[in-house]
Amino acid sequence: MTSPTLAWEFAQALGLGAVAGSLILCMLAVRPRTGAGGVFALRSHQLLGWLVLAAAVMHVAGLLAADRTVVEHVKPAAPRYEYAGALALVLLLFLTVPAGAALRSRLWRTHRGFQAAHVAAACLLVAALAVHVVTTGRYVHGGAQTAAYLLLSAVVLLALLRSRPQRQSAPAAARFPGGLVFGRHSRRVLAIVLASLAALLALARVGAPLALRVPFVARSARLALDFPHDRHRAVSCVTCHHDYIDRSGQGSCVSCHRSGRVDLKAGPEARFHDFCLGCHRDVAEGLGVHGPVTGCDPCHVPPGAPISFGAYPLPPRRGVSRRDGA
Ligand code: HEC
Ligand code: HEC
Ligand code: HEC
Ligand code: HEC
Repeated sequence: MTSPTLAWEFAQALGLGAVAGSLILCMLAVRPRTGAGGVFALRSHQLLGWLVLAAAVMHVAGLLAADRTVVEHVKPAAPRYEYAGALALVLLLFLTVPAGAALRSRLWRTHRGFQAAHVAAACLLVAALAVHVVTTGRYVHGGAQTAAYLLLSAVVLLALLRSRPQRQSAPAAARFPGGLVFGRHSRRVLAIVLASLAALLALARVGAPLALRVPFVARSARLALDFPHDRHRAVSCVTCHHDYIDRSGQGSCVSCHRSGRVDLKAGPEARFHDFCLGCHRDVAEGLGVHGPVTGCDPCHVPPGAPISFGAYPLPPRRGVSRRDGA
């Protein structure tokens, strides 16, 4: 990798692949006892499962390697969506490692017990991935895209309830919910699917994604921020310095937004990432260009410091050399 941007994009693409693979695996879940009926044979299901796990692990490792500021997101003061990402990784481990025939038969006495646990973990995975994907805002941002992703997740959850083909003679009433493939545990699985659907609905509420970006534990110190005023000349001062006109008070953005004032609705990270990256990702009308949307270092290096891991493909700033090691 020559450029940190490439390494970053590659690691992000692996994450995207892991999400897509997870949704496909849930959508086309195997129904082993139906004979040849399933779309996926058990072996390809297992193979894809391992590939998804590998992609997810490489997604995390790749991001940490591409940008050292990402370490902030594995500390306890990480935003909640990173906990959702970590939970998704643990669930993927649970869905793959003990699912092999040898371990499976030791851990679960009945096959139905295994199926119930497997499907429940898959539901939680779909919900955890939704939190992670929607709140990072990288691939899915804005109301319409969020709604589309949540709808897709809901369809995937409902597909998990797909029943196995019934014998012709079985009366329709006896099929529900017992006709679902999970047999005796069908009620429990149904409850988990419905609860996951409810969790997805909560995510669609206005303001929920922002709230999910506030960490459980507040950081004690702010991060270094290299904010270039000279690159934002095309933006009106009060677009950012709202306090110049709205009587919220005086001071620097960060000192005020980290002050713990009771009227602040979001933590500094959620507020500023939403605001800064909001314009960088969906460029405001008339601007043409946009600021960094990749990595953390373009914003979080001490002012004037050269950016680590070589040059970002951004034009050099006045008086600052961005060459490696400069
Ligand atoms: C794109 C958003 C943005 C725009 C546009 C912008 N600023 Fe800022 N400004 C900031 C941020 C962010 C900081 C805090 C930087 C930091 O803490 O390192 C800041 C800091 C400042 C400070 C220092 C405040 C303090 O008390 O520490 C002044 C003064 C200032 N800006 C004036 C202006 C003026 C005047 C304009 C218009 C010509 C302007 N800014 C345009 C975002 C902006
Ligand atoms: C004196 C305190 C203070 C200063 C200085 C300040 N803010 Fe705010 N800011 C607030 C308060 C209070 C709110 C309203 C509560 C909320 O939305 O969290 C707010 C809201 C916001 C919002 C959300 C606006 C919306 O419509 O949802 C953004 C974005 C924001 N500030 C960015 C900035 C930036 C960027 C700076 C510096 C250039 C800055 N603030 C300086 C106090 C301040
Ligand atoms: C309204 C739109 C807008 C907002 C809000 C905004 N930016 Fe930018 N930002 C830009 C544009 C446009 C550029 C590219 C300017 C250029 O290339 O000359 C830019 C460039 C940058 C750069 C790259 C400078 C370089 O090294 O080449 C940084 C860093 C940056 N912004 C940080 C921030 C931070 C931090 C905030 C939030 C406090 C923020 N921006 C808010 C529009 C915005
Ligand atoms: C577009 C600029 C920009 C990018 C890119 C960016 N951040 Fe930020 N970040 C900010 C601003 C502005 C703040 C609020 C000011 C501060 O605390 O430094 C902030 C705050 C934070 C905070 C909270 C610091 C505090 O004060 O409590 C953390 C943690 C953080 N960012 C981590 C990251 C990580 C990890 C990445 C990369 C995945 C990243 N940021 C990418 C602009 C950016």
